[in-house]
Amino acid sequence: MHVNDVLDDSRVDTLVNVRGWVYRSRESGQLIFLVIRDSTNIVQVVVEKGAVTPEEFEMAKKSNIETSIEVEGKVSKEQKAVTGYEIHATKVKVYQFAENFPITKDKSDEFLLDIRHLWLRSREMTAIMKMRETVLDSIRDFMRERGYHEVQPPMFVGGMVEGGSTLFEVPYFGEKAYLTQSSQFYLEAFMYSLESVYTISPSFRAEKSRTRRHLTEYSHYEAEAAWVGNQQMMDLEEDMIIAIAQSLLSSNKGELEIVKRDLNKIKSVEKPFYRYRYEKVIEIGRQKGLQLDDVTDLGEKEERTITEDFDKPIFVYNFPTELKPFYHRPDPQDPSHVMNHDVLAPEGYGEIIGGGERIWNKDELISRMRNDNLNPEDYQWYVDLRSFGSVPHSGFGLGVDRLLTWLAGLDHINKVVPFPRTIRRLKP
Ligand code: 4AD
Ligand code: MG
Repeated sequence: MHVNDVLDDSRVDTLVNVRGWVYRSRESGQLIFLVIRDSTNIVQVVVEKGAVTPEEFEMAKKSNIETSIEVEGKVSKEQKAVTGYEIHATKVKVYQFAENFPITKDKSDEFLLDIRHLWLRSREMTAIMKMRETVLDSIRDFMRERGYHEVQPPMFVGGMVEGGSTLFEVPYFGEKAYLTQSSQFYLEAFMYSLESVYTISPSFRAEKSRTRRHLTEYSHYEAEAAWVGNQQMMDLEEDMIIAIAQSLLSSNKGELEIVKRDLNKIKSVEKPFYRYRYEKVIEIGRQKGLQLDDVTDLGEKEERTITEDFDKPIFVYNFPTELKPFYHRPDPQDPSHVMNHDVLAPEGYGEIIGGGERIWNKDELISRMRNDNLNPEDYQWYVDLRSFGSVPHSGFGLGVDRLLTWLAGLDHINKVVPFPRTIRRLKP
């Protein structure tokens, strides 16, 4: 059975059997205390001389950190034990004694990244992986309930979406292929069939910036919906972020405790979020002492300052057209701005979503491409979508890893990814 099943009053005085790995061990005369962990929790095991065979006692004695082990024993309640219960071993079986485990207390973040294949076993990483799962589950529950279909776009693509500077090129049978920066264009194609679609897929960015929020491969949750406008998309995102925050609170209290998150910061993620036009956010930045031009592409540092004192996410809408890629739809009343939005997470975390309305008129799309010195021929199939019953539509892309970094209150994006990929890291 699993450790969590043992930690219950109904188990007291019964015989249980657990399998797992030695998390801690210490010896005290005739007693050996082992803390055993499995995927669910940790529990203290007491091996007493005489209660098991001499061979078993010797094995328990030799069981160092990460030894794989199975014990059978009787449960008792024990306030002093790490999780409140204790197993008094009657049988001990070792699967493999571990070599000297390299991870001890107070290792640097860099070392823990080098040894990530082993650090995954830590309580912190285990907690984070469980929270990741909750986030992904709740995205799927939420989207299904809203009538969205999940789809699988390709990862090898023939062109860029978010600008040439962050494209990864890969050889492809004598041709050039790229790793996708965003599945948006494919979602737009799916949309003409399924109307409301989403995907949770990797996106790749050849990011040279070494910030606390940039990966070269990240989990991208993107959606696209026909007949939906910019404000309506923002409404959906607001509900969705609240739903995710709530499900973390209800499913992962223990995990949030392990990463030392202040639960009140998640509880305060309520409706309504702040909604400001781009210019208002520039003004907020200036009030906080930032030197900002009227048209500034906000980076990690600026967003950190701007969002520091906020308790809820901020929608920033209608950016200057020149700051955004060609596909964003200029406001017909004010073409110098596009009908888009970013979502900035509070507490200094900054951008987690980019989205908005797409240009759905073919000629307008082509002319915006030419303005940006792009060749419409390179986007033949994307333009082609506007030739057969085009419709107004909107979408967004959310960085799952950034969202979790914020919700878990961590200081670096690579803490929420099992095997983070950055400019300097391809292993393990
Ligand atoms: O703002 P971005 O570049 O927008 C797009 O890719 C749109 N095509 C999405 C869409 O409308 N379907 O990226 C969207 C989000 C960002 O807000 C950020 O959360 C995340 O993706 N992101 C990254 N996360 C981690 N590492 C990186 N290098 C990231 N680049 C973007
Ligand atoms: Mg963006």
